[in-house]
Amino acid sequence: MEKKVSKIGVLTSGGDSPGMNAAIRAVVRTGNYHGLEVFGIMRGYQGLLEDDIFRMENRSVANIIQRGGTILKTARCKEFRTPEGRDRAYQVLKGRGIDGLVIIGGDGSFRGAVEFSAEYDIPCIGLAGTIDKDIAGTDFTIGFDTAVNTAVEAIDKIRDTADAHDRLFIIEVMGRDAGYIALHSGIACGAENILIPEQKTDIEAVVQSLQEKERRKKLVNLIVVAEGDEFGGANEVAKVIKERLPNIETRVAILGHIQRGGAPTCLDRLIASRMGYHAVESLIHGRHNVFVGITNNRMNYIPLEQVHKKKGKISPEWMKIVKILAS
Ligand code: F6P
Repeated sequence: MEKKVSKIGVLTSGGDSPGMNAAIRAVVRTGNYHGLEVFGIMRGYQGLLEDDIFRMENRSVANIIQRGGTILKTARCKEFRTPEGRDRAYQVLKGRGIDGLVIIGGDGSFRGAVEFSAEYDIPCIGLAGTIDKDIAGTDFTIGFDTAVNTAVEAIDKIRDTADAHDRLFIIEVMGRDAGYIALHSGIACGAENILIPEQKTDIEAVVQSLQEKERRKKLVNLIVVAEGDEFGGANEVAKVIKERLPNIETRVAILGHIQRGGAPTCLDRLIASRMGYHAVESLIHGRHNVFVGITNNRMNYIPLEQVHKKKGKISPEWMKIVKILAS
């Protein structure tokens, strides 16, 4: 028989992402609706180890659905990766009578939850909060849509300058292991080339395509590079291009952390609300130690131990589209 939960904790862990607040709000309000006691845990697993925990009522999450960042703050916690750290976390939760956890974060945060839920009788539910969209088993992650729209807005502005000066801009977007932000924003902004970690960068092909465009007097060019591209990011790509094509005026723009902040888009608020609601429903109905994703517009529950980083899965057709549309 599954254990009934009565007191649940919610935390955000790893890099923040826009929409985390909407997810916290959904967890708190759904929990309270079902008569559970809901506790906010500050700074992810770090706050859990330090017993930095407080009771959350419906009013605690008023006026946050539209805010980026996370009211619970976030951290990356090395100690939770050790058996001693997890034991301390368990003692803290036991002491407070908390018998269920909702973890909003990326794959690193879930790895901690996998070990913890295997060792102790505290069910854990994972919600994918990451701008990288690099978790298998869900079509959406909380924050990706906002991040990619932020990137699109910034790249459109850069295009104005590229156009005014007939320049090549090499724009670096976030994505250490995943190229989704680069791919989506690059296509949406009409980039000539998109360089992503999932694909080996053929710098010679990039140079040749620019040479060919130079011959055709197509002088406004945008190249979007994911920070984790194996060639080494926008500055490295620029070095080669400046050397090989000195006549092309080239600039680098690194978008950086602006992609992590800001008001979440409607889509991010929506999926965060839906996932937060289903996280609590899962705890109540004994669907424990799962990650809640959305696939083909249906909720998808994957055992936490099967959750993994989505790697190398970008279809070659996308690259064909980039090439054809940039001609
Ligand atoms: O995982 C989200 C992410 O923004 C990555 O795209 C990026 O590589 C990383 O976090 C940056 O982390 P930090 O804020 O710790 O530098």
